[in-house]
Amino acid sequence: MKIYLSIILFLVSKMVFAQTTPEQHRPHFHFSPPTKWVNDPNGMVYYKGEYHLFYQHYPDASVWGPMHWGHAISKDLLHWEHMPIALYPDSLGYIFSGSAVADVQNTSGFGKAGGETPLVAIYTYHDPIGEKAKRNDFQTQGIAYSLDKGRTWIKYTGNPVVKNPGIRDFRDPKVFWHASKKQWVMLLAAVDHIDFYTSKNLKEWVKAGEFGKGAGAQGGVWECPDLFPMKVVGKNETKWVLIVNINPGAPNGGSGTQYFVGQFDGENFKNDNPDDKTLWFEYGKDNYAGVTWANNPDGRRLLIGWMSNWQYANTVPTTTWRNAMTIPRELGLHSTSKGLRLFQKPVRETKLLRGESSSIAATSVEGFKNIGNQFVEKEISISFDLNKTTAKEFGIVLSNSKNEKVEIGYDVASKQFYIDRTEGGKKDFSKDYAVKQFAPRLSQSNLVTMHLLIDVASVELFADNGSTTMTSIHFPNEDFGTSQIFSKKGLTQVVNGQVWHLK
Ligand code: FRU
Repeated sequence: MKIYLSIILFLVSKMVFAQTTPEQHRPHFHFSPPTKWVNDPNGMVYYKGEYHLFYQHYPDASVWGPMHWGHAISKDLLHWEHMPIALYPDSLGYIFSGSAVADVQNTSGFGKAGGETPLVAIYTYHDPIGEKAKRNDFQTQGIAYSLDKGRTWIKYTGNPVVKNPGIRDFRDPKVFWHASKKQWVMLLAAVDHIDFYTSKNLKEWVKAGEFGKGAGAQGGVWECPDLFPMKVVGKNETKWVLIVNINPGAPNGGSGTQYFVGQFDGENFKNDNPDDKTLWFEYGKDNYAGVTWANNPDGRRLLIGWMSNWQYANTVPTTTWRNAMTIPRELGLHSTSKGLRLFQKPVRETKLLRGESSSIAATSVEGFKNIGNQFVEKEISISFDLNKTTAKEFGIVLSNSKNEKVEIGYDVASKQFYIDRTEGGKKDFSKDYAVKQFAPRLSQSNLVTMHLLIDVASVELFADNGSTTMTSIHFPNEDFGTSQIFSKKGLTQVVNGQVWHLK
């Protein structure tokens, strides 16, 4: 009798507390830290079968604080093994964002004969004492190296390797090897532009060019840059893509990512479209500080972003940990009617997560139609025929039994995709969170396609072959078990689709 009673009590407590456990909203297939705070991805480098992901981390609280580099390793970009903290603050300051490289030619001299290739991390020191004293030179750049495949890190005794020339925001070094000039290049975000430095050995740096004053979006501070060559898909042409994160000033408010397409000679970047309007990498509110992996062996250009926004990252309703990363994405540079544009798609490894699947047959929908699969974590791929659509808005809606919902839709008249989380559950933690987010459609095809990756606390939309993307987090009081096609004020024609449970 006693045992039955305790089983019943256990089950009832499970039912009552299932939705209020401290781990509610913990992503299932996105990276999140084991505990406490995370912001930017840092130091992403591939080496000997392992993808390294370091990240801005405060191990003592679930809010931003003295920054460390947390660390995780993956063989497939999806399953992450948590590693010990890689870099702790020291007398020069907190460890802010930066990058890592594999110093294959041992230019730094950190390597030992017959030993592992040195992995070298290049990061910003943020000195809180200098900041408090209102000095302008409290951000400098330091390096550390690992001779055991990233397991342990030794800080260079000659730090800082780049002193501050008197610029308050002078940070987030992204370093890469420029093959034809045979030297390392460092990009630094400096308030409203990018500074380029060069070095032969990663230890001694000299200033080269600058780019960006007056260019692109200038509504906030420039942060976390990246620069890499990309072959234009289907053409025998290579361009350089410069990624610049900015906070605030994003199209839907708060933090966001812009990019420039042009040429780079090893010291100076030239924008191909100086008169062009800002190119936004992404339109959702929750993809920030994204940069790409170094040393990736197969030619793919892979990026991961922080799935949050500085407007509310410190107050989102989680407790034991706070914030997560986007799904890693593969970038492609495509020639479109509007010029060269970056497209994104989830890395192909994501397919490894696919479980049970069902197809969506051609059908016309007016109102709502269930798409069957009641798993919370899922992937949906669906296309709609605009020629046979009379609706004003259509798309996919996720909902629960508490009447909470998130709509991922297309607005026919304004030619914009949108994500509406205004009725998506918890929202009182910030006035900037519960808004309808819009993204102008790039494609002009009559077929509107939506590819969605849905986790317990996020949705990522890759529309029209990844030419328009949106990332958005959400915090329903009960997980979104129901997904439906919706069509408002008219009907929409579904051409076909597929749904997968993501394991
Ligand atoms: C971007 C950022 C970086 C900085 C880091 C501090 O989100 O502000 O510029 O290095 O976060 O945690």
